Amino acid sequence: MAELGEFSTTVLVFGGPYSNLEATSAMRARAADLGITTERIICTGDIVAYCAEPGETIDLIRDWGIHVVMGNCEEALAFSEPDCGCGFETDSSCSTLAITWYEYANRRVDATQRAWMSGLPRSIEFVIGGVLFKTIHASLTSINEFVFPSSDASRKLTQISEAGVDAIIGGHSGIPFGQRVDNSLWLNAGVIGMPANDGGKHGWYMLIDPTEGGLEVSWHRLDYDHAASRQSTIAAGMVEYGRALGEGLWPSIDILPETEARQSGQPLNLPPIHF
Ligand SMILES: [Fe+2]
Repeated sequence: MAELGEFSTTVLVFGGPYSNLEATSAMRARAADLGITTERIICTGDIVAYCAEPGETIDLIRDWGIHVVMGNCEEALAFSEPDCGCGFETDSSCSTLAITWYEYANRRVDATQRAWMSGLPRSIEFVIGGVLFKTIHASLTSINEFVFPSSDASRKLTQISEAGVDAIIGGHSGIPFGQRVDNSLWLNAGVIGMPANDGGKHGWYMLIDPTEGGLEVSWHRLDYDHAASRQSTIAAGMVEYGRALGEGLWPSIDILPETEARQSGQPLNLPPIHF
């Protein structure tokens, strides 16, 4: 675990660069425009996945110098595992699609990049506005559990309580959301390298701003050259993921609970949370 101490100005959190170099470059540029320095930027993991430029995306993140939580994709590549460890059911369409990108990425990530990924922390804690946050990849006990808005609230609360924090920020599941659970928060910053299955072609990131007496959590669109990423992803052979970049819809919704599956293609409603 990494402990970053206390912040007095905006923290930026994003997830899932997913080998999407265009989106990751756009995120870096947006952070610079917002004046947010690297020590206040956290990526929730999965730098490498569905798109065409795994090595270049890792190098960009390393050169940028931000904090990164290890995702299942980093864990799998760092330790040369046979698959991405996404937790997809065998023979599901997610699993079939994942084989293609994982084999593509596994051929393009070098030993130095794997060594760097193996040293990433599995959680990052920080304080802002008097609130203690723990950033993880998926859930407290698993690097590949899918936690969605409709996932059991009492289980979220138990994990926040077991972590001994006020708020958990997770990633992995690809859909941004924020929930107040009793007097705690469960947050997901969203991802930048794939759409949120909401019909939009943009990615999402999250800002945490201290306010008088607390903080504000807000979600923001990241627009980028999705047409270029679509083209390179299709050319690299990940045709379904390339199409997803151009359509704003995931190639498969096997992993989605019924509630989130029903919301496919609908714009997300993400009002800020004041805590
Ligand atoms: Fe993941």
